[in-house]
Amino acid sequence: MLMSYIDQEKIKEIRDAADIVEIISNYVSLTPRGKNYFGICPFHDDNNPSMSVNRDKKIYKCFSCGATGTVFKFVMDYENISFIEAVKKVADSAGINIDIGNIPKLKNHSKLYEIYNLSLKFYTNNINTSAGKEAREYLKARGINDDIIKEFQIGLALDDKDSLSKLLFKKFDEKSIMKSGLVNKNTYGFLDLFYGRIMFPLYDLKGNVVAYSGRIYNREDKSKYFNTWETEIFKKGELLYNYHRAKDSARLNNQIIVMEGFMDVIRAYSIGITNVVATMGTAVTKEQAILIKKMAKEVILCFDGDDAGAHATMACADELIAIGVIPKIIALKDGLDPDEYIMKNGDEFKNLIKNTMNVMDFKLNYLKKGKNLNNTIDEAQFVSEAIKEIKKINDDILRELTIKKIVNETGLDEGILRSKLGNNKVKMPKVKPKPKIKMNKYEMAERNLIYYMLRYPEVIKIYNTKVTYMPTEEYRFLAREIKMFYNEYGFIKEADLIDYVECDEDIVKTISKIEEADLKENYSNEEIDDYIKTIKDYNVKNEINRLTANMKKELDPLKKAEIAQKIIDLKKESTNV
Ligand code: UTP
Ligand code: MN
Repeated sequence: MLMSYIDQEKIKEIRDAADIVEIISNYVSLTPRGKNYFGICPFHDDNNPSMSVNRDKKIYKCFSCGATGTVFKFVMDYENISFIEAVKKVADSAGINIDIGNIPKLKNHSKLYEIYNLSLKFYTNNINTSAGKEAREYLKARGINDDIIKEFQIGLALDDKDSLSKLLFKKFDEKSIMKSGLVNKNTYGFLDLFYGRIMFPLYDLKGNVVAYSGRIYNREDKSKYFNTWETEIFKKGELLYNYHRAKDSARLNNQIIVMEGFMDVIRAYSIGITNVVATMGTAVTKEQAILIKKMAKEVILCFDGDDAGAHATMACADELIAIGVIPKIIALKDGLDPDEYIMKNGDEFKNLIKNTMNVMDFKLNYLKKGKNLNNTIDEAQFVSEAIKEIKKINDDILRELTIKKIVNETGLDEGILRSKLGNNKVKMPKVKPKPKIKMNKYEMAERNLIYYMLRYPEVIKIYNTKVTYMPTEEYRFLAREIKMFYNEYGFIKEADLIDYVECDEDIVKTISKIEEADLKENYSNEEIDDYIKTIKDYNVKNEINRLTANMKKELDPLKKAEIAQKIIDLKKESTNV
């Protein structure tokens, strides 16, 4: 069994006290339909309410992507936290006190994290030494005070090129150090990746330091910022700078502000804006867009006020629109970035947040740039580009308003514009019919048997006495957990089992796959016997194959005969079961 830090009784108590509908409603809006509640699944990009939440069963399920589990699993996946952390969170909102002490972090790349922790200590210490004087002055000149340096764990890579390497080699093996991406190897030996740079740690979604971005401050270099390359624990396109700090405040405000640079985020903090993340200067990926969508309902993009920023705003808006989020825009003037704007205007920035621009207005302005709308060719090009943008939008009101605006601005006949747009509002991706999983009859027997084991203790008992071995690994693991759960508690219930395995990703997936079988509610003993016979047959067949191969290899005639006898016995058995 997986290690458990809270006993099952307590977990059950928390799950029973917490209303799954209420808790999930904190994240996605749910509407009642029949016995269930429905909402848009946050675990894949969708605009249809494919996720149902069942209060009695205490389980949610997405019919489109198959995500399923208990309230803990939902919170765990939504917030990217561990099972124990999710239990604690749900307990808090249900008003149950639990003492789970220090939450042990699950770390499978623990050495890499350790290397980053040590490097962080090193870098943050450096900046406070005499060697850090110039860096401190640089930061001070940029209005970054000691509190901010502390909060964002800003550090310094020294001018020499191997002090970190030396430190790491005292504690870690070469292989792990090289994996961390912090050290380079050349013909002369090992060199630090970063030197003479102010170090900004980058965090994963849980707040672990997994990379750095280093900025030059006292010398010339072709790159202003330099980042750790991608490693096992750092995938730039999957994270957002400051996600772990911003997510609670974003939820509270129901608003998330997205900027380009981490300096912008840090600056926003200095005037008390905490619901803010940064994309870190690269094109926003779909993963990042989904993360943003999960953070809050209102999304505000505030990119740099130059051409590159406007271009990035268009691209990011499109990624968001494609997953049903209509962002609002803050368009900064005079080429300023948020950092510079706030340095200049301070709290005034907060007014910009209250007076955002709608995304279509922003797009229309963008398309107008460099065009003379009195020139027919330019105007025609503008209209055709605008039509493309309108087609992306799946918001009736916004579409109507935009159409009206274009008609007013260009004097184009509304009928013509509408005929160009056609009736083809963006077709929402239909819920894809799931590909029918091809299953051979053995797998089907395993699946069906477990389907009933998940419902009826009697079937578990039959399984216990009659089946020794499930041939398919994922079913074997699940059957083992069911058996252990039942032996311990004397009953079986899907929600309890899911929590018992601490929402283990693989096991929950298997359960979800099995539930899709959607067999009739009641079983007959003949059916169960039939499944068991099929499984046994399969095992016997495999065993015969194995023995036959062994027999062929065997040179000793006596042993050969022995194996042959075994095979004969097995063949007899398989016809008798
Ligand atoms: P910017 O060039 O807008 O940086 O890049 P900035 O935020 O204004 O930084 P300062 O004010 O000059 O210190 C935005 C983001 O793009 C990435 C960084 O993540 C930065 O936060 N970037 C930029 C790089 O990775 N490398 C670079 O050379 C430049
Ligand atoms: Mn800047």
